[in-house]
Amino acid sequence: MNKRSIIKSTARYLPDNRITNDDLTGLMDTTDEWIRQRTGIESRYWVKEGDDTGTSDLALEAAQIALARAGWEPAELDLIVMATMTSDTYIPGAGTHLQHKLGGGYVPALDIRQQCTGFLHGLEVCDAYIRSGIAGKILLVGADYQSRFMEKTTANRDTAVIFADGAGAVCIAAEETDETVGILASVFHADGKHADALRVGIPARKSGYAMDPEVLANNEYFPFMDGRTVFKMAVTRLPEVARELLAKAGVQLADIDLVIPHQANLRINEALRDRLQLPDEKIYNNIQEYGNTTSATIPIALDEVMEKGILKSGDHVLFIGLGAGLTWGGVIYRLP
Ligand code: COA
Repeated sequence: MNKRSIIKSTARYLPDNRITNDDLTGLMDTTDEWIRQRTGIESRYWVKEGDDTGTSDLALEAAQIALARAGWEPAELDLIVMATMTSDTYIPGAGTHLQHKLGGGYVPALDIRQQCTGFLHGLEVCDAYIRSGIAGKILLVGADYQSRFMEKTTANRDTAVIFADGAGAVCIAAEETDETVGILASVFHADGKHADALRVGIPARKSGYAMDPEVLANNEYFPFMDGRTVFKMAVTRLPEVARELLAKAGVQLADIDLVIPHQANLRINEALRDRLQLPDEKIYNNIQEYGNTTSATIPIALDEVMEKGILKSGDHVLFIGLGAGLTWGGVIYRLP
């Protein structure tokens, strides 16, 4: 018998403040048509201005739903894994804030700062803890609160129209089984040559005091994105790593019932679909409604998929994504 990582429950949380493309035209020089054509996005959810909310609050909402659905108390957890790039405080990471708000004693909390591939890396980390016997019950959360970190002006309209707020959570349990179910394989890569293609410079900066007026004037508090480089890398690397992942898992592409990609741009996901020659119904997209919620895109999508009853026992799911770093990779999961 082997220990397998089984997803026991899923959950999502979006702030109650839907922002349409038309709402953005009042803040910056952009149009609904441009945003839809270039990204596929129609709306996104942003925490209301002035709300006393942090990323751990978004995470908490999703985490509590996931725990209730699994029938677990926070104190039963062996580990909390928190993926985010927009922690409540720069130090410590949002994981400990979440742990405190959940209650339940001294459950360890591990932060993963891997931006858009944070949740995917989280799945691999959970699987390693479970296969090695270190943990039996893990809460994995992907949450980001991008709207507070973005400059919502024409100067940064390329990022401001894309990024959004939200949280997704899963409860993962170790189960003894001979069956080929649970997390079957994971593959990751990084290419730091493109570290500058998507970055936020402050508060950690390799040279210069972060509060120096000159440094502040460069607007390095806000994300900088070389969208074309990121786009090109995504459409090249994602199909490559999908094939690598299939080979590692020993699964044929035809056996994959659903691809759940990171939601960075609908055109990137359409290119992935075309390069893998997948029928449209085998790739799940919801960027139209939510925008890019960074580490939350995949667990939010998974929760929707489970709610809609799209997957059944024995189905194979391929999770995949690319993000700042640049980092990219994926995970193949088979439902028990
Ligand atoms: N509204 C209107 N016009 C905009 C705009 C906006 N929100 N953002 C940029 N533009 C303008 C540019 O200023 C440029 O104008 P110019 O031709 O007068 O110079 C024009 O649109 C084209 O810009 P460009 O950057 O070449 O567009 P693009 O087709 O590459 O699309 C992105 C831009 C950002 C949508 C696209 O590059 C992308 O999605 N890249 C990947 C980003 C990504 O995945 N990020 C997350 C990774 S996890």
